[in-house]
Amino acid sequence: MERKHSVAESLRLYESALCCIPGGTHLFGRRAELMAHGVSPVYSDRQRGGRFWDVDGNEYVDLMMGAGAVLLGHAYPAVVSAVREQAARGTGLSVNHPLEVELAELLIEVLPCAEMVRLCKGGGEADLLAIRIARGATGRDKVAFCGYHGWHDWYLAANLADESTLNSYLMPGISPTGVPRGLAGTTIPFEFNNLDSLRAVLEANEGEMAAIIMEACRSYKPEPGFLEGVRELATRHGAVLIFDEVVTGFRLALGGAQEYFGVLPDLATYAKAISNGFALGVVVGRREVMEPARDMFISSVYWAEATGLAAGLASVRTMRQVGAAERVGELGRRFMDGLTAVIEDSSVPAACGGYAPFPFLSFRHEDAAVNQELTTLYMQEMAKRGVFAHTVNYLCVEHTGRDLEQVLEAAAESFEVMGRALDSGDVKSLLECPVRQSGFRRLV
Ligand SMILES: Cc1ncc(COP(=O)(O)O)c(C=O)c1O
Repeated sequence: MERKHSVAESLRLYESALCCIPGGTHLFGRRAELMAHGVSPVYSDRQRGGRFWDVDGNEYVDLMMGAGAVLLGHAYPAVVSAVREQAARGTGLSVNHPLEVELAELLIEVLPCAEMVRLCKGGGEADLLAIRIARGATGRDKVAFCGYHGWHDWYLAANLADESTLNSYLMPGISPTGVPRGLAGTTIPFEFNNLDSLRAVLEANEGEMAAIIMEACRSYKPEPGFLEGVRELATRHGAVLIFDEVVTGFRLALGGAQEYFGVLPDLATYAKAISNGFALGVVVGRREVMEPARDMFISSVYWAEATGLAAGLASVRTMRQVGAAERVGELGRRFMDGLTAVIEDSSVPAACGGYAPFPFLSFRHEDAAVNQELTTLYMQEMAKRGVFAHTVNYLCVEHTGRDLEQVLEAAAESFEVMGRALDSGDVKSLLECPVRQSGFRRLV
């Protein structure tokens, strides 16, 4: 008899979490209300390769892969054994650990703009370090940005003047509650693929701009000449150009977007895939910009603890050895072709685009509310068929042909359900859960 999909234990744990953890989770994107809440798994018990098993015993092909942090595969043997061996030898900390130097030298070898390296524990933190270094090195305060860059004050300050400034970047509705009002006006957005908008921001703040920080691409792609134009404007206005490579690093190419597009920033930040599921973040960059950090107070006990360093070394070496970016690119192309065929065979208005190592699915109904309903129904139907899917898809080296087949079969069936839901005139009628919430404001 077919086993009925249930996530009862996940739901029980989440109820408890809401009582003892404000917001329930430690990564906003893992909040259950953003999924098909009631059908999607909320807690994972075990992960291996391109799959995980939730606390109710359901098995899923994982298309989220730790929000893109796991590029090789969950519990990848070479990384796990490096961490295990290092843990048994101690994590260092009383004095410095030789792995710090080894990791820095390896990163200088593989990341195009890297001449010096500072370590930390995550992507937002690496961005914070990069901003501090840029401010310290230039003696200026202001930051021009586009893209998503984490949760720290310097970034959320963008929403102090107008709470919708960050709306186009990953999470609409982020409130700057708790961010000092004195930071208003220090972080200024410019539009992706619009050099005039960056030029205007730089000219209006002549001599004050410490840094331009951006993601070189995400679901959006740079038009020819755009990144080169940003590079030139940064140099002309004396601002430090920072590429946030937290998502693109090691995934788009080993060296990230700067290698892929051939445009060199002054500083770049990497996290996520750099350590395949263990905690590590880095800021790397040109010696001239990095070296002044010697005289800035940037310091924390756990940044160079040795299990993170061992994970980083093993991950970067393995990604280079197995050609991880090329392999997820190839898998991603098959995924995109398969999903595009599914979409074309269906009556659902949707498209699959972006870059092959992290393709995006978007629903294109004229009514935005229907698109949310379709996204929820897609997540619901995919979860019931053993696929943990979102609209962004992170592939890993260990996703197999069988995983891909299961994903595309599940997608074909899910799109058939969505087509029926649209035909009925009420997509909600086939939902077994509330419509997922999007953005921050509606959750708080
Ligand atoms: C481009 C980018 N920068 C920074 C971050 C923040 O990284 P972390 O969650 O490791 O602090 C993220 C996280 O999704 C990201 O996508």
